[in-house]
Amino acid sequence: MSKDFSTMEDSNPSSNPSIHEVSDPSRRLFVRGGVATAAGGLFAGLAGCASPASNTTDLSRAPKGIGFKGVAISTADSIVVPEGYTAQVIAPWGDPVGLSGEMPKFKPDGTNTAAEQEAQMGMHHDGIHYFELDGSKRGLLVMNHEYTDDGLLHAGGMVPWTAEKVRKAQAAHGVAVIEVEDRGGAWQVVQPSPWARRITARTPMTVSGPAAGHALLKTAADASGRNVLGTFNNCGSGITPWGTYLTCEENFINYFKGPDTPSAHETRWGLKKGDPSGYRWHEFDERFDASRHPNEPNRHGWVVEIDPMNPSSTPMKRTALGRAAHEGATVAVTKDQRAVIYMGEDARFEYIYKFVSRDAIKPGGARANATLLDHGTLYVARFDANGQGQWLPLVHGQGPLTAANGFADQGEVLIKSRQASDLLGATKMDRPEWTAVDQARGEVYCTLTNNSNRTASGKTGVDAANPRANNTMGNIIRWREQGDFHGERFVWNHFVMAGDPTLARADARGNVKGDAFSCPDGLWVDGRGMLWIQTDMSTSAMGKGDLANLGNNVMLAADTQTGEIRRFLTGPSGCEITGVTSTPDLRTMFVNIQHPGESPSERSDPGKPQAISQWPGGPQGGRPRSATVVVRRKDGGIVGT
Ligand code: FEO
Ligand code: CA
Ligand code: CA
Ligand code: CA
Repeated sequence: MSKDFSTMEDSNPSSNPSIHEVSDPSRRLFVRGGVATAAGGLFAGLAGCASPASNTTDLSRAPKGIGFKGVAISTADSIVVPEGYTAQVIAPWGDPVGLSGEMPKFKPDGTNTAAEQEAQMGMHHDGIHYFELDGSKRGLLVMNHEYTDDGLLHAGGMVPWTAEKVRKAQAAHGVAVIEVEDRGGAWQVVQPSPWARRITARTPMTVSGPAAGHALLKTAADASGRNVLGTFNNCGSGITPWGTYLTCEENFINYFKGPDTPSAHETRWGLKKGDPSGYRWHEFDERFDASRHPNEPNRHGWVVEIDPMNPSSTPMKRTALGRAAHEGATVAVTKDQRAVIYMGEDARFEYIYKFVSRDAIKPGGARANATLLDHGTLYVARFDANGQGQWLPLVHGQGPLTAANGFADQGEVLIKSRQASDLLGATKMDRPEWTAVDQARGEVYCTLTNNSNRTASGKTGVDAANPRANNTMGNIIRWREQGDFHGERFVWNHFVMAGDPTLARADARGNVKGDAFSCPDGLWVDGRGMLWIQTDMSTSAMGKGDLANLGNNVMLAADTQTGEIRRFLTGPSGCEITGVTSTPDLRTMFVNIQHPGESPSERSDPGKPQAISQWPGGPQGGRPRSATVVVRRKDGGIVGT
């Protein structure tokens, strides 16, 4: 009910030219593409920069391709990994993060207070990254907590609804930083840890970049337009070569109560009359009443940069990267050391963006690159039917992005990036979720999770990049920039159309070479070039219709050179699999399991918290809990080989 509400809707009424013609550019596999960059690892070649992905193992000697025996589709309430692998649960919702002197235990009946939740793991684990402290033996895990199931979070659910429950829900959102260590074969959360931290929907943060201080960001509580409280609905994430974490604010609009008659701007961003998502934060925190504080929503929907190595640092909302229902932010590096950030906006008919930094990355880590993401150019993608594509700059004064069309300055272009992209004629996509960069091969991948509304009355219709009229299964699109990652032209094709080959409907069968799957969402290229795919079939659609044969959500490995896709992990009942990272030696993988036991309404019955899942605590666990799963080979080898 809550989280997927806006993604089940769409708020893009623009009439961008559609290409009512389906081509199949997959046979033109980048033959016109630019030359792949020659870097070896994720951020190899970035001499002098602190790299969270630097390797202590020579991965160039690692076996290529997929080496595990795939697992079967499952409807079990458990994690299944291939033969020869182990799965260990750590850091579930409600466990203490390890703040010194503040380590409240999880209470399985939901009676932890808001203050206790502020010192515990949040709900609904999502994007995650490992930052090394001692190579592959000890590091920080930084992860998002996307949203809450208020039926599970509180004793008694939302009845009665109180200020304390609003504060607890806000505390269960945001980001967690935990220290983890491999202690004799098992990973443990280090408690206390000087790096342990919770960032929530109430944490003070600073707005930076071209929109900082803009009139559209000023509110009664913040006349400067530069000081915002909190981040929430943090979905996908990214890391930078200078050692910071990027967290992405996705369905932020669901948290606001809208006015009786929303403005055109509010409507374009999905704000609706009342509180249709039912978070009810506005009842005790008036900034979430957009009818009283209309600029508060403009202060959300940004990519936020966090320095996990400095626990007292202030998170920075980077407006140069544009405002969107941001799913993720994945960094590539150009030959001249500029940062390029790829971002999907997960909503029906929204867009794919990239940001190119003006300046080169400097040696010296986060401090030396403190303003790198404040200067650069934001682009939106147009995918043409001939397999080529164009990045369209969102620059004030260029083309239609002028005062006459409602954009007073660059800040307004960035705050209203959807409207700007509409005017530029960008391609309306089937819900772009995560992007993944294969730095070595110069390729970028993006999951388009699904869209069953493309040919509904008044909608865009199919086009080459979004060729299914009823896209229940999703696909993965990929492109290669012409020249280097900062280029304005690219070539593209579909890496795979997801589907189930046993189905009768042609558009639902797909062309998977290997194991059937649907609704790709999480996506990551590991240090040896393997593409990992995580699925998010919604709990309202799982096990029904086109998804009837596909069981629970899964993670798969894909060999991008052969196209083979193999199922690696299946999750417990009612979960989605989202967020994956590993130690630099690729021998320990961390995978996030989000919302086990979620009901089709996305809000549990507080009287039956274990109705769908008892994972991971079993019958005595009280209620299902999102958690991180540590996956390793029993022989200590590289995961996936
Ligand atoms: Fe939060 Fe688009 O998934
Ligand atoms: Ca997602
Ligand atoms: Ca999703
Ligand atoms: Ca979901």
